[in-house]
Amino acid sequence: MKLKAENISFKYPSAKDYILKDINLELDNKKIIGLIGDSGSGKSTLCKILSGHIQKYEGEVKFNDEKLPNKGFKPVQLIYQHPEKVMNPKWKMDKVLSESWDVDDATLSEFGIQKSWLTRFPQELSGGELQRFSVLRAVNPKTQFLIADEMTTMLDAITQVQILDSVIKIVKQRDMGFLLVSHDMDLVDTICDDKIYFKDINGI
Ligand SMILES: Nc1ncnc2c1ncn2[C@@H]1O[C@H](COP(=O)(O)OP(=O)(O)OP(=O)(O)O)[C@@H](O)[C@H]1O
Ligand SMILES: [Mg+2]
Repeated sequence: MKLKAENISFKYPSAKDYILKDINLELDNKKIIGLIGDSGSGKSTLCKILSGHIQKYEGEVKFNDEKLPNKGFKPVQLIYQHPEKVMNPKWKMDKVLSESWDVDDATLSEFGIQKSWLTRFPQELSGGELQRFSVLRAVNPKTQFLIADEMTTMLDAITQVQILDSVIKIVKQRDMGFLLVSHDMDLVDTICDDKIYFKDINGI
């Protein structure tokens, strides 16, 4: 499996300057790659492009040599940096989850999710509890490539390791590709096979 970015350039419609310029990147499911870069440099923006959440940009993203689908299920799933920003506040967690897939009890417990959380709204959960749902939503059985955008930044060290362990386990079981975006060099060195510095690939 191959996720390829070809000459990606992008600027937000409201901004005057480009934040991404001529980015080329090739990822697969053989190695876990860590992407490291300064705050505000455009990592999350690139993640949104790679996963099909931003669709108007210059250049091309290809998954297994084909363009990403504009509609329907996205084979490249993004675990957002801020899960609370992308969950419907009016939906209880069981609906938030089942919108993606019917998660079995074993997977719920692997991710440390208590059944009682399923009947709560997003704002009634802690950051770590919410992030577990966000991860689970992204690991739909149809997911082929997973991008984790600073998914554990706000969590304490123990919770961070627990969640990441569960993610890596499922990535290996299902032979998915995995890109980890992080500020944390130690974390990247521990988890990833290789690392990429964002400033080295962004031609800005
Ligand atoms: N929707 C938006 N409209 C306009 N500008 C935006 C939007 N989202 C982000 N930006 C700007 O684009 C730049 C890159 O943001 P982005 O979130 O991609 O950075 P990042 O590398 O992920 O930062 P961090 O490490 O803090 O998460 C920032 O200057 C940000 O203010
Ligand atoms: Mg970011």
